Amino acid sequence: MMNVVDIHSHFFPKSWENLAAKFGGDDWPWLRHEENPKPNQGKTPKQYPGRDWAMLMKGDKEFRPIYSACWDASVRLEEMDRDGVDKQIISATPILFAYDKPVAQAEYCAQLFNDAAMDICAQGDNRLFALAQVPLQDIDASCREVSRAKSCGHVGVQIGNHVGDNNMDDAGVLTFLQHCAEQDIPVFVHPWDMMAANRTKDYMMGWTVGMPAETQLSIVSMILGGGFDRVSDNLKICFAHGGGSFAFLLGRLDNAWHHRSIARGKSEFPPSHYLNRFYLDTAVFDHDSLDLLVKKMGPERLMFGSDYPFPLGEQQMGQLIKTAPSLTDKNKQLLLATNAEQFFNI
Ligand code: CO
Repeated sequence: MMNVVDIHSHFFPKSWENLAAKFGGDDWPWLRHEENPKPNQGKTPKQYPGRDWAMLMKGDKEFRPIYSACWDASVRLEEMDRDGVDKQIISATPILFAYDKPVAQAEYCAQLFNDAAMDICAQGDNRLFALAQVPLQDIDASCREVSRAKSCGHVGVQIGNHVGDNNMDDAGVLTFLQHCAEQDIPVFVHPWDMMAANRTKDYMMGWTVGMPAETQLSIVSMILGGGFDRVSDNLKICFAHGGGSFAFLLGRLDNAWHHRSIARGKSEFPPSHYLNRFYLDTAVFDHDSLDLLVKKMGPERLMFGSDYPFPLGEQQMGQLIKTAPSLTDKNKQLLLATNAEQFFNI
């Protein structure tokens, strides 16, 4: 039996205070809990038969349905047992970040949702761990909150991959990453607020096309902006969704770096030089893609992530790695748990 640690999963508290009433504004997230109809009947989304569910709202707009695994630790543990997941790391979803709000409001939200995450973990039978969120639009406030969260028991921090037009090579973001490096706080980078919103609004292309492009952009900006040259190599940083389009297009990047001086940015070395400075999760849903990641990154730089409990996550958590035809058992165990246990000190 393989030990299994899932580093990429999300939570919502069952409820939280009315942020619109507290701060004003018409786009705050909240949950509209729905009466639970019989399985497969009524308004229960087909993918959540028999579970309590809620509509995630943004102001008065329906954002998407979610179900009780988000907020109920017992449901989560039951589904982890079903799939053979020993430990899971939970993080907020980007809709809770509030990066576009005044700093004090975002800091308030960070504390609110960070404390709520610890409440869920407290019911997790020592199998649930949490990543904090921070008000990334303000670096001092972010450093303050991430250190507070660490003292409360968070095992790392999740950040959105950009703040407005600022990429990962933004001086403030790099200052925050350096703070995390110095305090031994692992960082998980999650795409959000996807590019080309008007052209990706149909067919969930924001998730299937925008998110991988965002993550590629983040890794590239971190490399070419000199981020890895400037931030201490103690930094533990992991990018979501297998790094998006990054690994597949690394050859194109290296080629540009060698043949066009302006494509080098501030980086001292070609992009492929920096592969030992970061980790990727394995949420790629395809064995050939996983093989490419193992080949490019090495098996010690990949960690199992499911994106549970959402429909675009791995429906049977851990199966992609467990059934990978070209992975040795030793490497499967690295990906499924060992790398994550070392990365997050759990
Ligand atoms: Co996710």
